[in-house]
Amino acid sequence: MNPLFNLEELDRKTAVDTIGLTGKNILSVDQFDTELISKIFDRAREMRAMVNTVGGVDLLKGRVLAALFYEPSTRTSSSFIAAMERLGGSVIPITQGVKFSSVSKGETLADTVRTLEQYADAIVLRHPQVGAANLAGDYAHIPVLNAGDGAGEHPTQALLDLFTIREELGTLNGLKVAMIGDLKNGRTVHSLTKLLLHYNVSLRFVSPEILRMPLKIMNKVIDAGVNIRETHDVADVIENADVLYVTRVQKERFGDLAQYEEVKDHYVITSELIERAKEKMIIMHPLPRVGEIHYAVDNDPRAAYFRQVKNGMYIRMALLAAVLGEA
Ligand code: CP
Repeated sequence: MNPLFNLEELDRKTAVDTIGLTGKNILSVDQFDTELISKIFDRAREMRAMVNTVGGVDLLKGRVLAALFYEPSTRTSSSFIAAMERLGGSVIPITQGVKFSSVSKGETLADTVRTLEQYADAIVLRHPQVGAANLAGDYAHIPVLNAGDGAGEHPTQALLDLFTIREELGTLNGLKVAMIGDLKNGRTVHSLTKLLLHYNVSLRFVSPEILRMPLKIMNKVIDAGVNIRETHDVADVIENADVLYVTRVQKERFGDLAQYEEVKDHYVITSELIERAKEKMIIMHPLPRVGEIHYAVDNDPRAAYFRQVKNGMYIRMALLAAVLGEA
């Protein structure tokens, strides 16, 4: 028997809410503390072991997830769908929400959510407006999982990012984490920064002036007493970073496209640049990338972004099982 995965143990847990998220929404990383994070990570490891041994189980058989995506997505949508299917459940995929649902006829988010809850047991929502997932959570009587609300939060991404750091580097403490790129509009860096404040880390924010981390997040970092430095130059962080978290400049959040053109190629991670980085460090990216990491970097063992993608499925399996009372 695989020592990491015990089918009987997983079955025994089906009747017990060991994580404490049954019936709850996942809207913001603010709802997670280190104890809860640790339980979710344990569960994600069990999911990984299960997938690696038997591929799938019937933990969520008969359960239905409505996947409602008002913005494009590859990873978040497909990993939620894969997560549900590997746990024996099924999905209502409205992954081109605005175009092909009654949203295109003017139906409100509130009515869409109140409709989907008639068919589904949980809703995963991506929406361009900050606060949309909270609004959906106010109307729904089933768990709502925030898959990204505009430039607001992306809590499940932050959990998978944190899980990746933990699994790759073996710890979440004593690390220098450098975030690079569009820190203003990047919801993944907003959520990940808040999660990292639970640990003993140093933060380095690297961005053009107009894409600096929002004051609201900066104030949280300062209030937490975390060691923080901002810079415009990646050369200032490359030698000491344990984690280089690279982000795309988010064209879709710019009102003025001329401004986007000015900053879009500000940072490019190349093989030459990472020659100066530590031997034991990781390069992460929530993806998609549009040129900010050269393809040649993909061959470097420190490039963790596709392993990060895979971790997304395990974390989302853990979360779905938890909110549906099977964790
Ligand atoms: N990381 C992420 O949210 O990717 P998608 O936009 O493809 O879902």
